[in-house]
Amino acid sequence: MKFTKSEEETRELYLNHHKNYANNPDIFLKHYKYSSSCENYLLPEGWFKGKKVVDIGCGNNGVLQKAFYDMGCSSISCLDIGDKWINFLKEVLNSHKLNLNVFSFHAGNAIELPFETDTFDFAACFGVLMVLESFEHIELAIKEMMRVVVPGGICNADFGYGNTGVLNSFINPALREAYSEDNEFADYIDNLDLEEVKKEFFSILSTGINKDKLITEDLINKLLELITLDTINYFQDELRVPIKLDNKLNEKYVIDLLKKYGAKNIKRCPEFYYERKDFRRFLTPFHVTRNKSKYSKLMFGPGNLKFTWTK
Ligand SMILES: C[S@@+](CC[C@H](N)C(=O)[O-])C[C@H]1O[C@@H](n2cnc3c(N)ncnc32)[C@H](O)[C@@H]1O
Repeated sequence: MKFTKSEEETRELYLNHHKNYANNPDIFLKHYKYSSSCENYLLPEGWFKGKKVVDIGCGNNGVLQKAFYDMGCSSISCLDIGDKWINFLKEVLNSHKLNLNVFSFHAGNAIELPFETDTFDFAACFGVLMVLESFEHIELAIKEMMRVVVPGGICNADFGYGNTGVLNSFINPALREAYSEDNEFADYIDNLDLEEVKKEFFSILSTGINKDKLITEDLINKLLELITLDTINYFQDELRVPIKLDNKLNEKYVIDLLKKYGAKNIKRCPEFYYERKDFRRFLTPFHVTRNKSKYSKLMFGPGNLKFTWTK
């Protein structure tokens, strides 16, 4: 199967980022805690036992694979662009001592799945739809998800943060524009190195020592602990991925689209308190208070457009 230039670039970006999950247990665990709990898919405890599942746009971090395995799935099909990711994913699964016979690995495209109709009990598609080439591709991907699950089967997908909230609607798009137009900035982002960033920030911030009573070496070191590999992953993901459509869609778009392809029992999944270790640990409380706080909602919008539905 042929892939477009932007599909290949997207895959290459995540190939490297997902390797960081294996190198950093904090990043892995943060996502694993979410993925391994049935309630986050709005399913009853124990639902996955013996189920046949597919992870569309699985990447090579192994998080959802381990979660599906630990929840007792009998067959786990993993699909992503090209085949470079497969050995990296296998390595991660081996490092967790999972039985690889439960898994199958498929080079393919979310918009044209290489699976028979009515095959899976559950289809997942996380972090993928909003990086597809176009709205037409999002639509094809949903149509394909619906095709490959059995009647009565469950689909679960996220569509990103939608077109609301100052961060997603204005700040992130502006940073993406700067990345695409300012070569020096792009070069800096492309070559971010955790230790170098910390060294540089220390040297900048320490010019305030003895000039500002609040700024001490101790405080600077504490602040620098809030910059981690996850921080670098976040900024590189956000700025370097060739296409990002989520700031152009909203809840109504998603629900209309799902209904168009016959989805039933459409439900929006709850917000989750991700245990971050970097500076974003202070943003998580804002993420989870969007329903209660005017400020949180203004900045971050009404939350992740993550849905579960039935065929
Ligand atoms: C943000 S990562 C998410 C990975 C994984 N699903 C997770 O939640 O950790 C996006 C993934 O979507 C994959 N992807 C992008 N476009 C795709 C397409 N057209 N078909 C299949 N996978 C695609 C990328 O290669 C990448 O692995």
